[in-house]
Amino acid sequence: MAILVTGGAGFIGSHTVVELIQAGKEVVIVDNFSNSKPEVLNRIEKITGIRPILYQADLLDKPAIDKIFEEQNIEAVIHFAGFKAVGESVQKPLEYYHNNITGTLMLCQSMREHGCKKIVFSSSATVYGMNNPVPFKEGMPTSATNPYGYTKVMIEQILSDLYVADKEWSVILLRYFNPIGAHESGLIGEDPNGIPNNLLPYIAQVAIGKLPCLSVFGDDYDTVDGTGVRDYIHVVDLALGHLKAIDYSLSHTGVEAINLGTGNGTSVLQILHAFEKACGHSINYKIAPRRAGDIASCYADASKAKEMLDWEATRTIEDMCRTGWNFISKNPNGLE
Ligand code: UD1
Repeated sequence: MAILVTGGAGFIGSHTVVELIQAGKEVVIVDNFSNSKPEVLNRIEKITGIRPILYQADLLDKPAIDKIFEEQNIEAVIHFAGFKAVGESVQKPLEYYHNNITGTLMLCQSMREHGCKKIVFSSSATVYGMNNPVPFKEGMPTSATNPYGYTKVMIEQILSDLYVADKEWSVILLRYFNPIGAHESGLIGEDPNGIPNNLLPYIAQVAIGKLPCLSVFGDDYDTVDGTGVRDYIHVVDLALGHLKAIDYSLSHTGVEAINLGTGNGTSVLQILHAFEKACGHSINYKIAPRRAGDIASCYADASKAKEMLDWEATRTIEDMCRTGWNFISKNPNGLE
């Protein structure tokens, strides 16, 4: 029996595939490489000694997805595949809704037709919206401020409704906080196309000399030093959370939303200084206006994951910066 990983060549997907293989699971990847590179497969093989089966296909191509379920013995799906750039989603709402929502609908139809009813979904802390107090708890109301965020909210609803209709489903909605860092080997890591939107890849590219200066979006928030506070989590800790979620889903039915975060907040300037320590030199930055749609603080109440999955993050901010720097130093032009 195998685990199907959609978007398994991406940042979180590839780290999860490595941990699944190392835990002895058989893995099948489906990816269209829209925001990842085939080289990731070579890297996964280098780390684990095993090359996962790959289907290069789009979730919108239902016959191609059906073929995977016909050819492979899939017992559960981890669903990462989706567009994820907030700003781009505002410019291209139809593309985002179609790709993320229709892709998920196609995937679930194919799963149902082939009797596979266990899914772990890659959701986001973005579903807590602008109005909940921190720390965010799973029972809080969800909302969004942009099409990307709405796709996460809507897919959570769609998957929950699947269980209402058919109690054989097992649905786990993993709400990630801010995954950063890279595998210890430096062989896989975050490799964004173009200019990064997220803080850590941006800092890394300034540190390596590819970008001149970090803009810190706002220094007048009600936080420790006025800059935005987030719950950064090491991508390997996050990957290990998926292993626990899969094991849970194999022995349970139902719907559970579960935060994957550390429960601790770190400000933009704190993480910048931690990265300076990791790379051994100072990093150029300037204070810029606030970014539309940002909140002051976002961090998890991580207790449900501990109680339900016996999972908690163990890696520190220093580990995240050290492994992130190791990856970009070894792959200054990304995965070639
Ligand atoms: C962003 C998305 C969120 C998505 C998550 C993961 C927005 C508003 N939110 O979260 O929906 O789930 O990425 O992909 O885009 N910052 C700077 N300078 C930069 C970049 C970021 O100061 O060049 C600051 C931000 O203002 C924020 C912090 O760094 O305080 C983290 O930003 P980012 O990495 O983009 O993550 P989120 O905004 O938390």
